[in-house]
Amino acid sequence: MRDIIAKKRDGRELTAEEIAAVVRDYTSGEMVDAQMAALLMAIVLRGMTPRETADLTLAMADSGERLDLSSIPGTKIDKHSTGGVGDKTTLVVAPLVAACGVPVPKMSGRALGHTGGTIDKLECIPGLVTDLSPEAFCAQVSEIGVAIAAQTERMAPADKKVYALRDATATVESVPLIASSVMSKKLAVGADGIVLDVKVGRGAFVHDAARAEKLAEAMAQIGARAGMKVVALVTRMDEPLGCAVGDGVEMMEAISTLAGNGPPDFVELCEIVAGHMIALGGASPNPGEGRKLATRRLADGSGLGKLREMVRRQGGEEQVIDDPEALIRGAHRSVITGQETGEVVGIDARRVGAAMRDLKSAAREHRRLCGALLHKKVGDRVVRGELIATVVAPDGIAEAAEQAAREVAESFSTGENAVRSPLLVGLTEM
Ligand code: URA
Repeated sequence: MRDIIAKKRDGRELTAEEIAAVVRDYTSGEMVDAQMAALLMAIVLRGMTPRETADLTLAMADSGERLDLSSIPGTKIDKHSTGGVGDKTTLVVAPLVAACGVPVPKMSGRALGHTGGTIDKLECIPGLVTDLSPEAFCAQVSEIGVAIAAQTERMAPADKKVYALRDATATVESVPLIASSVMSKKLAVGADGIVLDVKVGRGAFVHDAARAEKLAEAMAQIGARAGMKVVALVTRMDEPLGCAVGDGVEMMEAISTLAGNGPPDFVELCEIVAGHMIALGGASPNPGEGRKLATRRLADGSGLGKLREMVRRQGGEEQVIDDPEALIRGAHRSVITGQETGEVVGIDARRVGAAMRDLKSAAREHRRLCGALLHKKVGDRVVRGELIATVVAPDGIAEAAEQAAREVAESFSTGENAVRSPLLVGLTEM
């Protein structure tokens, strides 16, 4: 190991065998944390070639269980977002794309940092189970076209161990390390193609567009080398996506979006992502036609019907689909009004996300009742004293709810001539 670490320290390229040995020995415990930490820092400083990055990804994907999706007919398409605030896209596009005839086997994670997790949102539906066996997962996708399940500990265990060490050693921020971490889990699921949504901006983990482009390219290259079709989008994450931030309210917004009442920015992103997934899955000749099909299925209610089927199949209370407000019924509401008259020029997504994370930790078992509803978005006019947002929280944590309301209020900036940046800023296909 010492020779391998020295080789990377000196800026030389590691062989596939050396990388496989590192992943094997670190997972088994033979390579100690100190050695791995040194190697990770050398990678942060020296980088990795596309070949090394792909070899690292494959070795991590092979460190645990890999799903066998071969029993599912059709071209299976996955989707991944690098994480944002108010990003409930999977909850809409997975059923919507399945309703367009493309099977979607989706393994999702939980909250990370200031960003929420799909599984936490989905589990707000009473009774709904996300811990599916590989057999149940594949059977569900075969029969109804979609399943959203929690990523298991058995998939890509090397990534789990490496990620924890990266977190403790300031080695998270590296394009090859992030790309291999994300893609190892996706290769372990084993879909035929994937649409990646790389978030960039204040509320994302990557703040500048050039770096987001690099990450998108690195992930697309890994996919190409591993035989997976990849489309990597780069999309803005400066203000929260849509109008809801928080597990219960985001599930609620996903349902109302499938019912045809989604906020424009969120609907636009869902249609773009779905369009690419549908085209990758072969149900449309190109992403533009795919988007049109997605729009039709959104309008005719078949996306919502597919979500209903999925909820039923995973043991959740189906009535929530007809009465999404039930998800936050009984929550205490704090109203936030505008301090100035003008246009909303910014809503700091990171601050809103962090406020909701802190509120959730105060709420303990009533986490699903915590959320922020934004009644104004960037570009909207506000009159002083007008309602701009509501914070919902369970009873009994008034102080934490007040603090969250203050944070949300201060996340808004008012001025004139707001600039709404385009949602989609980059696209890499391989
Ligand atoms: N998400 C991951 O899964 N891995 C990273 O390294 C960063 C974000």
